[in-house]
Amino acid sequence: MCGIIGCVGVTNSKQVLLEGLKTLEYRGYDSSGIAIFNKDNVNIVKAVGKLSQLQKKVNNQEMLGSHGIAHTRWATHGKVTEENAHPHIVGSISIVHNGIIENYRKLKTELLKDGVVFKSETDTEVIAHLLNNYYEKEKSLLQAVKKVKSVLQGSFALLVSSVKEPQTLVALKSGPPLLFARSNESYFFSSDSLAFQNYATEFFPLEDGDIIEVKKDKFSLLRDKNKNENKSKNENKNENENEIIDQKNLIWIKVSKDQYSLSKQSYKHFMLKEIFEQPQVSVQAISPYIDQVKMELLLPCKDLQQKIKKTKKIFIIACGTSFYAAMEAKYYIEKAAGVSVEVDTASEFRYRHTPIDQDDLVLLISQSGETADTLSVLRSLKEKEISVISLCNTKSSSIDRLSDFSYYMNAGVEVAVASTKAFVNSLIILNIFSEQIAKIKNKLTTTDEKDFVASMLSLPRLLGEVLDFSIAIKDKVEFLSKHKGFLFMGRGFSFPISMEGALKLKELVYLHAEAYSFGEMKHGPLALIDKNMLVIALVPKDEFYEKSLSNLEEVRSRGASIFGIGSYQDKELARLSTEHFFLPKITESFCWSLNPILASLPMQLLAYYFSDYLGHDVDQPRNLAKSVTVE
Ligand code: AGP
Repeated sequence: MCGIIGCVGVTNSKQVLLEGLKTLEYRGYDSSGIAIFNKDNVNIVKAVGKLSQLQKKVNNQEMLGSHGIAHTRWATHGKVTEENAHPHIVGSISIVHNGIIENYRKLKTELLKDGVVFKSETDTEVIAHLLNNYYEKEKSLLQAVKKVKSVLQGSFALLVSSVKEPQTLVALKSGPPLLFARSNESYFFSSDSLAFQNYATEFFPLEDGDIIEVKKDKFSLLRDKNKNENKSKNENKNENENEIIDQKNLIWIKVSKDQYSLSKQSYKHFMLKEIFEQPQVSVQAISPYIDQVKMELLLPCKDLQQKIKKTKKIFIIACGTSFYAAMEAKYYIEKAAGVSVEVDTASEFRYRHTPIDQDDLVLLISQSGETADTLSVLRSLKEKEISVISLCNTKSSSIDRLSDFSYYMNAGVEVAVASTKAFVNSLIILNIFSEQIAKIKNKLTTTDEKDFVASMLSLPRLLGEVLDFSIAIKDKVEFLSKHKGFLFMGRGFSFPISMEGALKLKELVYLHAEAYSFGEMKHGPLALIDKNMLVIALVPKDEFYEKSLSNLEEVRSRGASIFGIGSYQDKELARLSTEHFFLPKITESFCWSLNPILASLPMQLLAYYFSDYLGHDVDQPRNLAKSVTVE
């Protein structure tokens, strides 16, 4: 977690860094700090709380300088205090750090024995002391960083400067994402390309082990010589094992400005804006995979088709909301293509001893493309030479780059910590993926293919129709607020959406919410039912409808309130529910695949309006960060 940014050779580094931090705030938002270097001086300002606190402090300060580093923190070691906020400064050294130093206790004990006094509780300060010691001996920032690289274990991205080397910034990456960008003679580093999108023209992502030294208007890149020799990331490396990379061999990526990015427009929150963007961004999910003239599904590249043809089993691995999208994919793929699917969270899967066959397919889902657990699964699969498909929103993210085949959510940048449009676009792509598998395995008739394509093409309009009735959800917030506990229930295709609904409520409203499949109700959760419990029931008219209605009767007779979400003008559901919300009228034959996608929106709106009603920080819920880059 945490966001880091640095620049050299810009006219107003304070503005560049603060703008960049704003875009990185999703990575952590408990405190922040900035250091601007001017000749042999450094001016450091830190603040606890949201970035606005730092902005307030620096507004009154003249911080001149064309070179600086900055940080937005999600606390891992030590409380949220100014002392623990970055940048950390020791002697001439200033440093910002994203990640975790696993051997920091051992290193700190050694430093304490040498009489070092620590000002903070962070693992980062240990790095700063080490760098300062090495710098005193080596008199070179680059040599000091090379040396520190050989003693640190864990996962880290560092930006380091010294007041003794003006206009010099050294970066080291081993784990978390770090991008290097340039424009004429200005250079930038950041955890995300959004942070420099207004200033840089091109960038490339650093590889693990890379060190870059920027000195005024020049840079050099040092890369591990033994990159492909299967050395463990944490194995100590001799600092002479780097080689300078010829800059002609670097592949630069053009910085693209995201049309969906950084303004809330007229919306109160990014989350609301992102919910309302869904009809528009769903088009971007659908169109790359559909020939609208022939009404046909487009297939993936020949290599992937061959793999799909052979496969009998698919593993889908992800975390959080992406995991619930994976759960939905299981229902889609098993119904559409008859291929068995196993789904797991990356944090569990990475430590399981799951047998995987060379012919099995593995799909990883990650909005950010940087989630630590998912990335670790990818790395261990690569070691076993198992090919991996990824579904990411962030192009050129670590998971996207390291996977063999890429699908994209194409949802545009998602700023709110709670995922909405990336989830819905994932469901759309996974639905399409399931029908692609069916087509490749000759299980999709031409008529069904045309019907499926028609269903997909109707989605943007249907999503818009759900949003047209968002006010109906807003009006139910007072009713929601009368309850202390929430059970989200659904069967079959609706069950993963119930799970996602419960997660949205937990992360935004901070009340207890759980999801159960209706079929599990009698095996325990029914005991929870009383008048304080609200059952949010997803009951669209699908193959599970009658069974779900019977379960709902059982819930009702035990005194729970029911918020029913179901198909257009379903009188029976309305009769059983205390409150209800109907999805729009669907005429397409693939309504079983459209229902879960459409039902996701009332789940999002419900959590959004409820959270706002309670006065919570909707876009940046407590204790969370958008990109979970530590385990
Ligand atoms: C979603 O609302 C959450 N903030 C969280 O569960 C998220 O989906 C999870 O951390 C996985 O992130 P990823 O998709 O970027 O890998």
